[in-house]
Amino acid sequence: MKTKNNKVCADIKVDISRAKSSAVGAEHGVTPAELTVIEGRVLAAHKILRKERRDAIYGFYDLYKDKAAFKAVKEAADHFSAFNYDNFVVLGIGGSALGITALQTALHPAYHNLVSQHERKGLPRLFVMDNIDPETFSDMMRVCPPGKTLYNVISKSGGTAETISQLMLVVDMLEKKVGAKAVKDHLVVTTSPKGKNAPKSLLHPVVSAYKLRSFEIPLNVGGRFSIFSPVGMFPAAMLGMDIDAMVAGCAAMDKQCSKASLLENPAYLRAALHYLMDTKKGKCISVMMPYADGLRDVADWYRQLWAESLGKRKSLDGDDVYTGQTPVKALGVTDQHSQVQLYTEGPNNKIFNILEVRRFGKTLRIPDVLTKVKELDYLRGKTMNKLMVAEVRGTLDALKNSKRPAIRIVLPQLNAYTLAQVLYMLEVETAMAGRLYNVNTFDQPGVEEGKQIARKLMGGRG
Ligand code: PA5
Repeated sequence: MKTKNNKVCADIKVDISRAKSSAVGAEHGVTPAELTVIEGRVLAAHKILRKERRDAIYGFYDLYKDKAAFKAVKEAADHFSAFNYDNFVVLGIGGSALGITALQTALHPAYHNLVSQHERKGLPRLFVMDNIDPETFSDMMRVCPPGKTLYNVISKSGGTAETISQLMLVVDMLEKKVGAKAVKDHLVVTTSPKGKNAPKSLLHPVVSAYKLRSFEIPLNVGGRFSIFSPVGMFPAAMLGMDIDAMVAGCAAMDKQCSKASLLENPAYLRAALHYLMDTKKGKCISVMMPYADGLRDVADWYRQLWAESLGKRKSLDGDDVYTGQTPVKALGVTDQHSQVQLYTEGPNNKIFNILEVRRFGKTLRIPDVLTKVKELDYLRGKTMNKLMVAEVRGTLDALKNSKRPAIRIVLPQLNAYTLAQVLYMLEVETAMAGRLYNVNTFDQPGVEEGKQIARKLMGGRG
């Protein structure tokens, strides 16, 4: 695909060779026979998933095609950008927060919030408030003066107590500091649509009361699958991200992930491998370990997607099955000095997902200094980029030597296009994995139960 600057972007690649029996032995790696057996199940599940998509039961697949939603997002971003806000604050939790956090970490410079507005090219700082720690929230309100801040409250249900309590604090502050009439210049709502069959969102009356701009989260899209809806795309547009390149990345990955094939569909292949690893090889933990700081929060986003979608008590047939692989996030190389000892010598109960970026946005040469220390000759004149490659290879080979299966996801570069490909693939993979586990991928009764108990404890209706 060609970007706005006419640069050609290559696609991401998935390499499963290190998860095969030929690499780590049949006890820990998948055998050709196991892949042949699972292929039939994958193809049968593919038919069901395609039908669910055609019938619009689950809408995440087609979010990137929603031209009207993208137009509205861009228009609103243009409107609000004229206000020149210093801060953009997301009020939301879980699927309403993790997506934009992953986008921000991946697509903006590491210290975006710390540099001047000039260096940020006029873009606002981003604060994602996904907790109700009173100290953090107070501090956020102090460092983000209301007059210079745009808030985006995001809640599909419009009833999550944590998010609503944040909103109440913000509305109170805005009323006091900018006045009730100006609240509309500082607050945007993203929630489920109004409608006969839609559950009532407590955010609808807030929209009416202050005449706020609002975005809809389609009813057939769950929170953790909503990154390409206005949940992720409005903040992305406000932060100057290339959402057209994300659409292109989704489209390219959709093409690959629509194939009725185990080996040619990267999402299906990864889903099948994870399922086999868990159910046949005792790999009850899935570690995602990107070797790039920019991808750190993709691992966090994936953690929710995998855990909430597949961690289920009941099967689709109503039996108690208690499924789900525990997702763990790690960061290369940082966690080589924290986790890799466990990973290579501890229990062999993990499948590793190693994310690599082939070409970083910057090259950093290690200078010719400390020349008296001969032992450092091997580093002098090399690049940090090269050292990173060596470290990834070191971990991959150490894992292989200790018979730990790993799947590589290789991004030619980290940008909006390749990032969208990774995220889209992981979503389709999760949908397929849910089918293989025979559970409802898209509900979260365990989360809802906790929410209701907390609401009751606060004197609400539960
Ligand atoms: O994936 C999910 O559905 C959940 O993690 C939700 O995103 C989370 O519980 C927040 O819910 P809501 O968007 O309704 O406030």
